[in-house]
Formats: sequence, structure tokens, C-alpha cells
Amino acid sequence: MKIKIFDDPMQMGFMAATEVKNQLNGKKDSVLILPTGSTPIPVYKNLVNMYNKGEVSFADAITFNLDEYIGIESDHEERYYNFMKRNLFSHVDIKEENINIPDSRTQDCEAECVKYEKKYRASGCADLALLGIGNNGHIGFNEPGTSFDSVTHVTHIAESTIKANSRFFASEDLVPKAAMTMGISTILSAKKIFILITGKAKHDILMKLISSNEADESIPATALRLHKDVTIYADREAAGLI
Ligand code: PGA
Repeated sequence: MKIKIFDDPMQMGFMAATEVKNQLNGKKDSVLILPTGSTPIPVYKNLVNMYNKGEVSFADAITFNLDEYIGIESDHEERYYNFMKRNLFSHVDIKEENINIPDSRTQDCEAECVKYEKKYRASGCADLALLGIGNNGHIGFNEPGTSFDSVTHVTHIAESTIKANSRFFASEDLVPKAAMTMGISTILSAKKIFILITGKAKHDILMKLISSNEADESIPATALRLHKDVTIYADREAAGLI
């Protein structure tokens, strides 16, 4: 795993966005795995700027989001489909039919996950995956204990994640308790992976991630050690004295 350390989240966002831009300029129909959460917002802001300057187009890009809440209202601003529209998709030229996010409106989430995995694999898998990380080491909604062989599935959200995500909801009770998420093996199928880690609160998990070479299901992000092309994009606050 390589690590790149930037002065602040905006600089991290600019450099990660530049890599996404280069990826799309090198292969217009790139398949991208995209995350939600607060960490990727500077990446999306920079991509929108680059698009506005004519430096990049999403016209042929195909995106798969990592995950989606179950049991969230269609118009809720924390529904990840709405998050992605607000932060990226409404501002660039991506085609609606090339946007893939597990559909939270379905009656049958298990079937939706099977369909999602199949569509993702049929795309040829991601050229580039961007990931965030939870304080407990989750990637997507793959919480501690998730099998490294997992594919897209329905999962319970860990208590600590519900607490962390409650900052986006009026109260903790309103945070959904379940989600659909790409599995660990789905994520590892990407040809190249960037994991974005910013802020002091993520320092401990970043240290755990780089402190050994063992992949351990109790810290899902350590699965990334099994992949040959992973780069950590960290800011100075997360990196501390590294
Ligand atoms: P955050 O979430 O970017 O809002 O910290 C990351 C995650 O939980 O994967």
C-alpha cells in the first residue's frame, strides 16, 4: 500500500480528483466505484470544477456506488442517490443510465444486491475505486467481521457507525439500521483503489491500517493489503507524525 499525505482535505481532494480526471481522459468509458460520506466531498467539488473548465467529461463514464441505506425515504437528503446527485451527478454530464446505486425503493433488497453484483461484474469491474473508511475500519458498509469473500449484500449497520452517521440525521433513532453494500471481494475486484482518510478522528484507524501486513476480518479495510494497487490519500491531520 502506498500513502500520499496532503496539507489539508482540499489538497487531498484536488489530487484525487486529478487522478480521476486522468483516468477518464485516458479511458472515457472507465468504470468507477464511488463513495459517499464527508471525506469524498472535496474530491467531488474538484471534479465539478474540472468539468466546468472543460478538463474532464463523464459522458461515457459508468459509476457504481459502494452502498445505500435500506428504509430511507426516497427524497431524504441522506439517501445516497440524492447525495450523489447533489454533490456530483447533477453538475456533470454523466448519463442517468450509467449511474448505478443499489435501489433503496425496492421491496426485495436481497434480489437487488444479486442484480447489482451481476451488473457490476458484467461491466468488467472498476478501473478505479474510491473509498472512505469508518473509524471501526469499515469500507462501504462492510462492518467488522464481514467475510473477505463477500459480494454485494444486505447488512446491519454497526452501532458505532450509526452513532457516527447520526450527525447527518435529526436524531440517532432516524439513522437506518441496515444497508446494501458491495462486498469486500467486490471492492477488491477494482484494478486500482484509492482510500481517502482525512481528519484527526481517523488517525487511529489509519495507523492500524499501515501498522501490519496482515489482513484481518475484524478490521475490514485491512483486506486492501491483499490488493496490489492501493494508495492511501491522507491529510496531515489523519497522518499525524507519519
Ligand atoms: P465519512 O465516512 O467520510 O463521513 O467519515 C466514511 C465512511 O464511513 O466510510
